[in-house]
Amino acid sequence: MRVAIVGAGAIARTHLEHLGALGHEVVAACDPLPERARALAAPIGAEVHADWRPMLETVRMDALFVCSPPATHAAPACAALERGIPVYLEKPLARSLHDGREIVAAWEASGCVCAIGYQWRSLDVVAAAREALAGSAPGLLVSRSFGGTEPARGDLSAAAAGSWFSDPRQSGGILFELGSHDIDVQRALAGEVAAVQATAGAGRLALAGRDPAGRHDAVSATLRFRDGGIGAIHVGWSAEGSPSVYTLDVLASEATLALDLGKAPTLRGRAKGRTIVAADTLDARLHTHERFFAAAGRGDAAAVVCTPRDALGTLAVALACESAIATGGEVEVGTAPGRGLSPG
Ligand SMILES: NC(=O)c1ccc[n+]([C@@H]2O[C@H](COP(=O)([O-])OP(=O)(O)OC[C@H]3O[C@@H](n4cnc5c(N)ncnc54)[C@H](O)[C@@H]3O)[C@@H](O)[C@H]2O)c1
Repeated sequence: MRVAIVGAGAIARTHLEHLGALGHEVVAACDPLPERARALAAPIGAEVHADWRPMLETVRMDALFVCSPPATHAAPACAALERGIPVYLEKPLARSLHDGREIVAAWEASGCVCAIGYQWRSLDVVAAAREALAGSAPGLLVSRSFGGTEPARGDLSAAAAGSWFSDPRQSGGILFELGSHDIDVQRALAGEVAAVQATAGAGRLALAGRDPAGRHDAVSATLRFRDGGIGAIHVGWSAEGSPSVYTLDVLASEATLALDLGKAPTLRGRAKGRTIVAADTLDARLHTHERFFAAAGRGDAAAVVCTPRDALGTLAVALACESAIATGGEVEVGTAPGRGLSPG
């Protein structure tokens, strides 16, 4: 398929490798920083644009990858969907509920394929955990996400001062960047969240000895699922060089499951008296892309790993956690004010 890319930064470069491996052709890339668009596009002979609008007007494409910062997702994603172009949209869905709802409305009106980049949903170990639960609701889920942010962005470097990630109003900080993956995978296993509590700290981990400038390097959130289960999520933006940890423990009345969601995902545990063991061999992002292109080829909007509606639920929980951190109280999901750059 012919693919165009909006936002030629770190994640776009990762996707470029996968697209090549899957035999798809990147035909154009746009970025307001022309040197970034050129660096991505020139070596593969793709067109370079400074703005997605003329790119969408003039380039013949079968799919659009939106890899720009969260507050800029809605406009290109909605415009592509309105033209009937399948969209692969990076997580989080958006920075505000307003933008998130616009994307879902454009997706539903178009009937088009749109996948959101919550790649953990694609893992065989997550599917095996769901199967082991066999419909029984988890009573407790515990996620640990300890690690760095996207290495190629250099978020701790002096050059990153003023970047979209360094401004929590644009990025949502590590709660959105790292923790929303944990919220999403917990929702994939335990369903909808009714209310949350959360707290956050700064200056003891990656930000030790630095001016936090409104950023956090530690976040703990507690999710109360609608059916009574509890989810705990601990996110640590750890100092450079620290080993990363991405795990999820799931306890239900007849299941005790331990997932490692790192580079070589595994599932171990017991359910209904059976020993459960599973592992993934395919990279989660590659798997997510495969599912996206297969869905786009068949025109099957439901066949992607994470739909915009799935991701809107995750966004609402992340926004509720953000409000809970700010207010110190329990916040019901869906009633959070939707902070961020767009009106909420
Ligand atoms: N799925 C994952 O695991 C994963 C990992 C990393 C990043 N991401 C997500 O991918 C997105 C981009 O992150 P990144 O790490 O590549 O950031 P980045 O800063 O490296 O790249 C973003 C690029 O978008 C460009 N940009 C800004 N505004 C734009 C606009 N209006 N139109 C087009 N381009 C624009 C920037 O100039 C920059 O080059 C974010 O939503 C982030 O959360 C997802």
